[in-house]
Amino acid sequence: MRLLVTGGAGYVGGVTAAVLAEGGHEVTVIDDLSTGNRDGVHPAARFIEAPVAEVAGDVLAEGDFDGVLHFAARSLVGESCEDPAAYWHGNVGTSLALLDAMRATGTTNLVFSSTAATYGEPERVPITEDMPKAPTNPYGATKLAIDHAITSYAEAYGLAATSLRYFNVAGAWGGFGENRVVETHLIPLVLQVALGHRDKILVFGDDWPTADGTCVRDYIHVKDLADAHLLALESNEAGRHRIYNLGSGDGYSVRQVIDTCREVTGREIPEQLAPRRAGDPATLIASSAKAVEELGWRPERTDLRTIVADAWEFTEALGDRAHSAPA
Ligand code: UFG
Repeated sequence: MRLLVTGGAGYVGGVTAAVLAEGGHEVTVIDDLSTGNRDGVHPAARFIEAPVAEVAGDVLAEGDFDGVLHFAARSLVGESCEDPAAYWHGNVGTSLALLDAMRATGTTNLVFSSTAATYGEPERVPITEDMPKAPTNPYGATKLAIDHAITSYAEAYGLAATSLRYFNVAGAWGGFGENRVVETHLIPLVLQVALGHRDKILVFGDDWPTADGTCVRDYIHVKDLADAHLLALESNEAGRHRIYNLGSGDGYSVRQVIDTCREVTGREIPEQLAPRRAGDPATLIASSAKAVEELGWRPERTDLRTIVADAWEFTEALGDRAHSAPA
């Protein structure tokens, strides 16, 4: 297939573009490198460095694109609270421009990178797609707004679309993984401590209503996630917008994650208790039953050790290319 990947220099977009390119698909990546890395783009992909909203129309007008995978977005919860305008313009504005470019060029097949943050604090776990959507931060609100726009475009203009709501994505594949300039996610931070690029990991609260008092999350391997995108793309139907949660269905606490990182790396990982981080839900666990049943999705790397081992292999290999590397 001939595919356009927006945000293909970022973490999930980069790995998915790599999986598609290695699978023999013709991949064009648009990324403005505002948060992505040039070396996070698979060498077989055509790379266009530009804001998506500015160039998507011209790129799609070249014709014959079989589908679009839309990852380009700002995705830091804390930043979205401090600078919501950047998120509403950057995420919603860009997505509307892309949807309009698709409509104008008759490109109908879309997979959108949505998030568990659209649900907010859940009433219960595991979270199913029919549960209330009540985002607790502008990041989640912008992703939910885009989901609504996609639903309308599907109903009115015949767009064939799927939104995939990721839980906590981690791991690496084929030499592509997490290397953000600003890192806030647990597993890459813990591995940076293991590598000696940071001196300790802060544990944000140990008085949560969970078994060991630290927050519980559902970690999904980025390769399993990438596979779901291809399944969604291949089964999209005109006029229909499908939405699926993607997680492994297992919850791991912050302490369990840190201990697993100690086991996998064999390194000392000092930790320090810190206050709760604002806006963190205690427990987030996905039900991915709908994706398994309807997409035929079969995650293969659900074990936390495998996820951490793959992330560690990537992190160690990064060396000086790591944004966290000491100068
Ligand atoms: N944590 C720490 N110390 C750190 C970093 C994180 O204790 O230095 C904890 C957090 O408090 C949380 C858990 O580790 O309990 C996981 O935190 P992450 O930042 O790795 O991930 P989140 O669960 O906050 O974020 C995920 C997705 C977001 C999404 C959010 C919805 O990565 O895109 O869920 O709540 F918005």
